[in-house]
Amino acid sequence: MFLQTLLQAAALLPILYSTASAQTACNNSPSLCNKPYNNITHLGAHDSPFLRNEQTSFSTSGNQYYNSTVQLDAGVRLLTAQVHKANETSAGSQWHLCHTSCSLLDMGTLESWLSSIKSWMDKNPNDVVTILLVNSDNAAASDLGSQFKSSGIDKYAYVPPSTTTIPQNWPTLQSLISNGTRLMTFVASITPSTTYPYLMDEFTFMFENDFNNEKPTDFSCVPARPTTLNNSTDQALSSGRMFLMNHFLYDAQLFGIQTPNENAAGSTNGQTGVGSLGTSLSTCTSVYNGRVPTFTIVDFFNRGPAMASVDKANGVTNPVGRISVPEEALKPKTGGGKKNSGSLLAVVLAVVAAVAFGC
Ligand SMILES: *[C@@H]1O[C@H](CO)[C@@H](O)[C@H](O)[C@H]1NC(C)=O
Ligand SMILES: *[C@@H]1O[C@H](CO)[C@@H](O)[C@H](O)[C@H]1NC(C)=O
Ligand SMILES: *[C@@H]1O[C@H](CO)[C@@H](O)[C@H](O)[C@H]1NC(C)=O
Ligand SMILES: *[C@@H]1O[C@H](CO)[C@@H](O)[C@H](O)[C@H]1NC(C)=O
Ligand SMILES: *[C@@H]1O[C@H](CO)[C@@H](O)[C@H](O)[C@H]1NC(C)=O
Ligand SMILES: *[C@@H]1O[C@H](CO)[C@@H](O)[C@H](O)[C@H]1NC(C)=O
Repeated sequence: MFLQTLLQAAALLPILYSTASAQTACNNSPSLCNKPYNNITHLGAHDSPFLRNEQTSFSTSGNQYYNSTVQLDAGVRLLTAQVHKANETSAGSQWHLCHTSCSLLDMGTLESWLSSIKSWMDKNPNDVVTILLVNSDNAAASDLGSQFKSSGIDKYAYVPPSTTTIPQNWPTLQSLISNGTRLMTFVASITPSTTYPYLMDEFTFMFENDFNNEKPTDFSCVPARPTTLNNSTDQALSSGRMFLMNHFLYDAQLFGIQTPNENAAGSTNGQTGVGSLGTSLSTCTSVYNGRVPTFTIVDFFNRGPAMASVDKANGVTNPVGRISVPEEALKPKTGGGKKNSGSLLAVVLAVVAAVAFGC
């Protein structure tokens, strides 16, 4: 009996040890625990749920090869998505994650995506995750908040001291983790709500450089949004907003439809060279008097790999607890891959019709 108890206790030891060592790391590194939330760079997957892989027949509207769970496993800590109004179905909510239009690429409901992130957060208790939603069809806070609630992820949501004023000091990662408020949620844009105060209006708290870039030499640190900053880096800095650095390229546009530039992703997300992520992070840090961009969002995050430049910006040398994915582009196993041409054609025809009928 005693022996059995002893054996059981001994069997527990490795678990206790691994838990103890895991708890010393925040967002994959012990060195980040005592950093304020805004004083590190969070790697973001731009359009996180919009996939270019077998699941979407390698849709050219896809921005990532691997889904949001795999992104989080690999160290991504900011996930962005667009929320569109779609028709109610028996499957659930009418708020869907679609790229530009639901006829182009529909990745399912907001609720189901939030549930997958919640499950990941349940299993990874020392990680602070940020979600940024583009509110494409002007959903109200109650529309979005109800999805946060039904997915269960709202239990992790951080509530800012004020929904209209930037805090003097953002909490450290450790205090967010200790308080169980490890989910930061921003929406572009949202009218603050007392029922869902965790839905923070993006441009109240952040500024962004221009996202619309087609060449490596196009990248800039100048604030493009909110426009009230008058394109002034001084005004952005003194406003106290956090900097979200867009860092991805589009292919030349066809009928106004932007497709992520897959071929450039390796060098765009690289550490050195003109237009690389590493170069932009250090350039923009200098422009803002030594303050690192709080967020950077990239397409095809595994290329580069983007994580290496972000680790460097954060001074992280020995990250723990990541499951990395191959750096290469994902390609269809056979043939050229469907190019989503059916729906692209539909949109092109719609545009042509709209022009012809003058609406
Ligand atoms: C932010 O990080 C920098 C670089 O690690 C450090 O010098 C600075 O003191 C930090 N600021 C705060 C408020 O922690
Ligand atoms: C994400 O991708 C992984 C690997 O392909 C898969 O095992 C997992 O089920 C996917 N998760 C979701 C929520 O789709
Ligand atoms: C919603 O349903 C209507 C009528 O069936 C259809 O015309 C429209 O395209 C649908 N919208 C979406 C976003 O699915
Ligand atoms: C953590 O919770 C305590 C008690 O509710 C609160 O005073 C403190 O401000 C919280 N810290 C953060 C970082 O939210
Ligand atoms: C931006 O410019 C406008 C018009 O010149 C001015 O009223 C406003 O105060 C400026 N914004 C900031 C943040 O300085
Ligand atoms: C900011 O830059 C944009 C794009 O170059 C321009 O259209 C806009 O007029 C500029 N705004 C101000 C206040 O200078």
